[in-house]
Amino acid sequence: MFKNRSYCGELTIQDAGRRVELAGWVEGNRNLGGIIFIKLRDVSGTVQVVVDSSATPDLVAAADQARSEFVISVYGVVRKRDEKNINLNHPTGSIEVLADSIKLLNASLVPPIPIETKDQIGEDMRLRYRFLDLRREEMRDAIIKRHRAMQAARRFLGANRFFEIETPVLNKSTPEGARDFLVPSRINRGEFYALPQSPQLFKQILMISGFDRYFQIVKCFRDEDLRNDRQPEFTQIDMELSFVDADAIREIVEKLLKEIVREVSGREIQIPFPKLSYTEAVDRYGTDAPDTRFSLEIVDCGGMFAGSKFTMFNAALSAGGVVRGIAVPDTGAISRKMIDRYVEEARVYGVPGLPIVKLGDGAAEGGIAKYCTPDEQAQLRRIFNISQQSVLFFTAGAHDPVSAALANLRLKIARDLGLIDESKLNFVWVTDFPLFEYSREEGRFYSKHHPFTAPQADGIELLDSLTPDQADMVLARAYDVVLNGVEIGGGSIRINNPDVQNKIFALLGISPEEAEEKFSFLVEALKYGAPPHGGIALGLDRIMMILLNRKSIRDVIAFPKTANGRCLMSNAPSPVSPDQLKELNLSLVGK
Ligand code: AMO
Repeated sequence: MFKNRSYCGELTIQDAGRRVELAGWVEGNRNLGGIIFIKLRDVSGTVQVVVDSSATPDLVAAADQARSEFVISVYGVVRKRDEKNINLNHPTGSIEVLADSIKLLNASLVPPIPIETKDQIGEDMRLRYRFLDLRREEMRDAIIKRHRAMQAARRFLGANRFFEIETPVLNKSTPEGARDFLVPSRINRGEFYALPQSPQLFKQILMISGFDRYFQIVKCFRDEDLRNDRQPEFTQIDMELSFVDADAIREIVEKLLKEIVREVSGREIQIPFPKLSYTEAVDRYGTDAPDTRFSLEIVDCGGMFAGSKFTMFNAALSAGGVVRGIAVPDTGAISRKMIDRYVEEARVYGVPGLPIVKLGDGAAEGGIAKYCTPDEQAQLRRIFNISQQSVLFFTAGAHDPVSAALANLRLKIARDLGLIDESKLNFVWVTDFPLFEYSREEGRFYSKHHPFTAPQADGIELLDSLTPDQADMVLARAYDVVLNGVEIGGGSIRINNPDVQNKIFALLGISPEEAEEKFSFLVEALKYGAPPHGGIALGLDRIMMILLNRKSIRDVIAFPKTANGRCLMSNAPSPVSPDQLKELNLSLVGK
């Protein structure tokens, strides 16, 4: 229909004098008496179309009828705008198209959400009318940049000898720690496929099959509680490599991320990324996904408060716990009300409170000042490296709740005081994770990553007789990549020895029968010449969310689900007919 269609947003002053064909949606239509202005939009942006007093009555009528979101085609000549109408803030603001023909291709109802606005629109309405929401500039921009990120990844990985190989979606369960989405099999009555939580097992099989570098931009499915950075289906840039060590994998991932960032935002990031061990990350930031764009680092005060008269500290230390704190520059910005809110939030993590003290050159004031001896105050100045009047927040108790509470506090304060430089992209590798976590309630070990992650060499001996107290002594050959405090990827060197793999299954309480049932194909394949291998998966949605500075991954996914796991546009999930259930040999027990 359009042999030489031009894109609205790509016309420039160089096109002046050229006759063009355009097609798109009417974003606005102003009739100023003798002259009509139509803002025409296509996927590339908008351009001003003009119908002036020289137009035929038919042309004027067509222009007049073109209401918001009608689809039209326009033929006309590009011309420079009058000096007084030039808008240099708009990509096509120095030109307009003088129309000589306008055709109405389709009409539109009045859109229930505004398309041309930067204002906040209720998210439910946006998701319900996603076909219109995707016409909005910020969504269009996100989807196009996401496309460019995927293209960049494909180009980079292709050029580095990775094969793009698809793995099955109808699967057996893969143990990534979440619940599976199940799909009943009609042909095999009473049996189910699981949608992949990741292609983990298949990519390892591909290494054993000899495809020494694999990648896939792949949908993964996890039935877990949703948050702003979690969707039930999400996309990984999934990779696996043979004959490499963790350093080589990290190096290639850094280069890949550099390409993606350049493509999406035109920025050059520094590589290699800094590395933190898991222990160091948790000690300094309270979390294994640290936001390093601001300091407020956590400091351990257990040693100096060993003989403290303050009961909370004393009780924690004598129970084998910790006393830790952070120092915040005291610019008078922290109100009593804020502190009350911080305390309330900290308690959610299971710590008893957040005692504070104000400290600078002079004597300590406020909060627990009276419990701090001059010697302790001097020590606090030293260990917190205090060079200006500061508010110190402490908490005490078992290691994990203290870390979690301080991690949250650090972030809250940084946000409240505007200490985060939003223009920064701080990548960091977190390495040397413990291989296992031990759950005292359930009396069993869990994998911190997944059961195929290799232990570091000096932990292998411990595997034969590991006790719960030794759980964090076996370190994993695992690494996460974190961007601005969000885990954007995780991977590891894998076990390629069937005996070690079986030992890990045994420790995780996976019986030989269960291992046989669930992953026999991997255990079997490991016996037939498995090369040393490892890999990583990057969370594409999260990467895009951060690069585009969006609050939620829903804003970088064309058709996301709500926090309740619903698609408001298609209304999935939905009931199915009794016939469908019968065919699948299923019956519902109740709603
Ligand atoms: P992992 O479980 O760490 O590793 O997942 C890799 C990355 O995927 C992203 N991600 C998610 N993004 C959005 N919504 C979710 N529900 C979600 N879950 C995970 C995160 C995460 O870092 N098979 C291993 C990888 C490997 O070992 O190679 C795996 O899936 O950014």
